[in-house]
Amino acid sequence: MLKVGLTGGIGCGKSTAANLFADLGAPVIDADRISHALVKPGAPALLQITRQFGPDILAADGALDRNKLRSLVFSRPDYKKQLEAILHPLVYAEMQRMLQTLHYPYVILCIPLLLETKMQHFVDRILVIDCSVEQQINRVKLRNRHSEDTIKAIIASQIPREQRLSAADDIIDNSGDTTKLAEHIKKLHNLYFSLGKNQN
Ligand SMILES: Nc1ncnc2c1ncn2[C@@H]1O[C@H](COP(=O)(O)OP(=O)(O)O)[C@@H](O)[C@H]1O
Ligand SMILES: [Mg+2]
Repeated sequence: MLKVGLTGGIGCGKSTAANLFADLGAPVIDADRISHALVKPGAPALLQITRQFGPDILAADGALDRNKLRSLVFSRPDYKKQLEAILHPLVYAEMQRMLQTLHYPYVILCIPLLLETKMQHFVDRILVIDCSVEQQINRVKLRNRHSEDTIKAIIASQIPREQRLSAADDIIDNSGDTTKLAEHIKKLHNLYFSLGKNQN
């Protein structure tokens, strides 16, 4: 099975693109969804995170307070490393487990931090979804209630656009509308389907 790593900066359209692949019948594994599941109340990773950062990181209902955790790790690079050391191996292990259950010529692995975590070797092909930084900021503003400063800080914490683009096997320019995006994805679906089918 051809493993396609779908990546891109915050707000570039990864989830939108992944949904369009899924609409065409492709299996999609979503690293964000896995990492959210790993920190549900009672989940082992949440226990580890609470042990590392203290119970203040929890909301009143025992769930992870994501905003608190975000500001904590943005204020301290060592905290960010500690958090990633807990979460990332568990996320990749779960993706590996899920891969074994799939039967299709290709799979979309939606991994926002594929390049930042230096896990290029985990996939066979890298698909970058791209738009301008201005579009990233505007789209995330519409999607979340983050301030512009928070969005800029997240963008600055990710790999620069040029480096991401230079790591790509395929690039989707998502500066246009979603109709254009869907057309591009249909073409890539056909390509990945035939590449995967012809794999040994
Ligand atoms: N081509 C597009 N034109 C306008 N809005 C878009 C386009 N692609 C995605 N969006 C919107 O931009 C926001 C960010 O897209 P999303 O797929 O959530 O990005 P990511 O998963 O990369 O963070 C979402 O609200 C989405 O609906
Ligand atoms: Mg997303």
